[in-house]
Amino acid sequence: MRFDDMGNTCVVGLQWGDEGKGKLVDVLVRHFDLVVRFSGGANAGHTIVADGETFALHQLPSGVLHEHVTGMIACGSVIDPAVLLGEIQSLRERGVDIGDRLRISHRAQLVFPYHRRQDMLAEQAALPGGKLGTTARGIGPCYADKVSRRWGIRVCELYHAQRFRERLATIVAHKNAYLVALYDFREPFDALAITEEYLNFAEQMRPVVCDTTLLLHERMKAGARVLFEGAQGSLLDIDHGTYPYVTSTSTGVGAVVSGAGVPPAAIHSTVGVIKAYTTRVGSGPFPTELSGALGDTIRERGGEYGTTTGRPRRCGWFDTVAAGYAAMIARPTCLAVMHLDTLSGLDELKVCVGYRNGPAISNHFPADAYELQAAQPLYETLPGWDAELSGCRRLADLPAAARDYLELISTRLATPIGVVGVGPEREQVILIENGA
Ligand code: GDP
Ligand code: IMO
Ligand code: MG
Repeated sequence: MRFDDMGNTCVVGLQWGDEGKGKLVDVLVRHFDLVVRFSGGANAGHTIVADGETFALHQLPSGVLHEHVTGMIACGSVIDPAVLLGEIQSLRERGVDIGDRLRISHRAQLVFPYHRRQDMLAEQAALPGGKLGTTARGIGPCYADKVSRRWGIRVCELYHAQRFRERLATIVAHKNAYLVALYDFREPFDALAITEEYLNFAEQMRPVVCDTTLLLHERMKAGARVLFEGAQGSLLDIDHGTYPYVTSTSTGVGAVVSGAGVPPAAIHSTVGVIKAYTTRVGSGPFPTELSGALGDTIRERGGEYGTTTGRPRRCGWFDTVAAGYAAMIARPTCLAVMHLDTLSGLDELKVCVGYRNGPAISNHFPADAYELQAAQPLYETLPGWDAELSGCRRLADLPAAARDYLELISTRLATPIGVVGVGPEREQVILIENGA
């Protein structure tokens, strides 16, 4: 495999998010002209570290930091204009002017303040299943309104002011009544104020709003190379993930087809991103979680705190059953294994290769969250290594134990490794072309 010849490529997380997708996009982007977000919204937090400076992007595609790239937010994403415009402004203040290099879909749904409130109130209420540990960005309520077809509002509606004003008034009245009835929340939203605020956002966004599906097809026809930037991770997928402890969208390759509006044949390669261990932020089953000192060590070494919420991430051993299930669905062309450097200095490393549930042993990822929670991981133990890896740039620079560790993951996931992350900086990476 060659990185300059991958065709249109999809970057997809194979765990519970935060695998290092932002960094990977930043590494690969020199070979692409367009970077497209196709699902999720500002619940994402994608980090890029360039020359010691950290950029965390939530709503914008990570590729926009590069001057040759057009960033696109396609219709499968939801857009919070306050976050979007705030992000553009804060980049401008830091010397990155994305100017004319962004396009957002007029079909994308909008996140409103009542979505964020609904998200928080649902978390505080003692609903069945307890807290999901959402990012509180209003994502679930916004997608629920989208599929309801009655309460969702799309970007294109902002440009018909009178119609927008009337619809929003009806919707806000409904939301206020709903929030009182369900959560006894008695601070009503002001439809007029939200209308004015969003009409103002609309004017600021006007130059970049378009039919991204059409534009994408035109650009592809003209030979543009497209990188599809996945958000969240396969185990947070609404259908394939650890339901109900998931996000509200499809997060995998299929979401590129529906969320960006391209045929499957337009996706030529997929890079499955994993961490060399596992993290999860928010609630839900996590069989290989290390809740003691070792988990704390990995968290501190890896800087495992949420990019969007700042919450400490739960850390644990690599799980080939969980990631293998995700790899089966995505069938990636290659893997990007990030954070290998974080594991340096541990005496031994464990990799989960199966689950024991009562007397039963299985290497199948169960559908039922309670069953997964009850699963006892079966481990293969490998020797660790002491060497600091951040200076390694070729596979041969890695200690033999680190190469063996990668080999085990690659074999279990039946996928070759194309990228190894050895630090947060964009140069701290090993690119493996044709096996070396
Ligand atoms: P994303 O959501 O998949 O883009 O991942 P996040 O940005 O939320 O979290 C990944 C974190 O790991 C960020 O802080 C990155 O800067 C950092 N990171 C990415 N790759 C590596 C790596 O190979 N080594 C180390 N030490 N940090 C990395
Ligand atoms: P990136 O793109 C990690 C998790 C939340 C919560 C669940 C539902 O940075 O990898 P939501 O706000 O989507 O309703 O929350 O999903 N979650 C993520 N975890 N990385 C993400 O995005 C996530 N986006 C959502 O923590 O458990
Ligand atoms: Mg993240």
